[in-house]
Amino acid sequence: MRFDPTAAPSETSAFWMPFTANRQFKAEPRLLASAEGMYYRSVDGRQILDATAGLWCCNAGHARPKIVEAVSRQIATLDYAPTFQMGHPLPFVLAERLADLAPDPLRHVFFTCSGSEAVDTALKIALAYHRVRGEGQRTRLIGREKGYHGVGFGGISVGGMVNNRKFFGAMLPGVDHLRHTLDLSRNAFSRGLPEHGAELADDLERLVQLHDASTIAAVIVEPISGSAGVVLPPRGYLERLRAICDRHGILLIFDEVITGFGRIGGAFGAERFGVTPDLITCAKGLSNGAVPMGAVLASRQVHDAFMHGPENAIELFHGYTYSGHPVAAAAALATLDTYEEEGLFNRAFELGQAWEDAAHALRGLPNVIDIRNHGLIAAIELAPREGSPGARAYEVFRRCFHERDLLIRVTGDVIALSPPLIIEPAQIERIFSTLADTIRAAA
Ligand SMILES: Cc1ncc(COP(=O)(O)O)c(C=O)c1O
Repeated sequence: MRFDPTAAPSETSAFWMPFTANRQFKAEPRLLASAEGMYYRSVDGRQILDATAGLWCCNAGHARPKIVEAVSRQIATLDYAPTFQMGHPLPFVLAERLADLAPDPLRHVFFTCSGSEAVDTALKIALAYHRVRGEGQRTRLIGREKGYHGVGFGGISVGGMVNNRKFFGAMLPGVDHLRHTLDLSRNAFSRGLPEHGAELADDLERLVQLHDASTIAAVIVEPISGSAGVVLPPRGYLERLRAICDRHGILLIFDEVITGFGRIGGAFGAERFGVTPDLITCAKGLSNGAVPMGAVLASRQVHDAFMHGPENAIELFHGYTYSGHPVAAAAALATLDTYEEEGLFNRAFELGQAWEDAAHALRGLPNVIDIRNHGLIAAIELAPREGSPGARAYEVFRRCFHERDLLIRVTGDVIALSPPLIIEPAQIERIFSTLADTIRAAA
């Protein structure tokens, strides 16, 4: 079938769109045709400034030449090869690169195709780790309210966003949740990490008292949760969580699908916050969003626990047809080169202050009840309209896209911003001045 991929489709009914109000969207579609650098181009030819790095994933910006070239070359050289009892060079090379970027004991990498799969993989590794060490009774998993860990049954079970859970019946058994750390009454308009709430990590100690540590396999948290509207860890919170895990032999998993690859400065949130988990999940920025890919980084201790028994025995009965896919791995290697050559993991440090000042300049505008920021992430929370939660932020989103050629993201009444790390000061200025106008217009 011949078609022009940059032209609006004549029919929109067959594509059941994910996480989208399908009928509303199809009545007034927002269609992107091409992209380069900081900008998308819409099917009606408008240049749209991307304040969301796609969906928190195009950290190096769009259509970066090295990535385009690597993907084109790889698909023509080796389009696919299995990694079950077979191999090809790329995932080995990529795994070494990732291990070198990660905090020290995280030396082993299991590849997946998405963040959701990385989360399910990490949860399964945690459960199996305890079992191979003779502690198979550690089956309980602990997540956190407002957590987002993708959409697999494991991820929605440990996740804490009600709409992602309530429609889908039974969750994994034996899951419990820590309280979330969003506290506008004490922390509204904090710059960077909030001051109050480290003690919320003690929820884990409370759950240990309830269930006994001998039944708990792992705790999973996002260092900063993005999807629930940017929830930051209070100062000292992650350190406290790590200490409680250590005290009780519980594995700590950081879901770094959003915080990985320069978003908050450095390669991973673990590095920026100085807290090293036992497992890290990542995706998105791993391949700059160009080809789907996720990964789990595991500590030596976790990995080595599996490397016993007969050498001809498979150590972990888990994997995906596309684990370590050659085209995805080529995209990821070129992505890591681009990050390194352009110093993109430093951008959040270099631009962080200007970004923070520009975001907090919106304080005082009508209905703005909180502004949160860290690295190159910012959230502006609006008071909901009476009886119509989410409507005010959606109006801002709509106006930004249709009237002001700016792509932002909204979750409920929170506007979440996460631009490509190549953003320049003038573009930061444009994002926040446009937001100021549209927030006033939606008052
Ligand atoms: C923290 C976190 N974990 C997991 C996921 C799921 O990733 P994917 O959509 O690639 O399955 C996301 C996606 O936004 C995420 O933010």
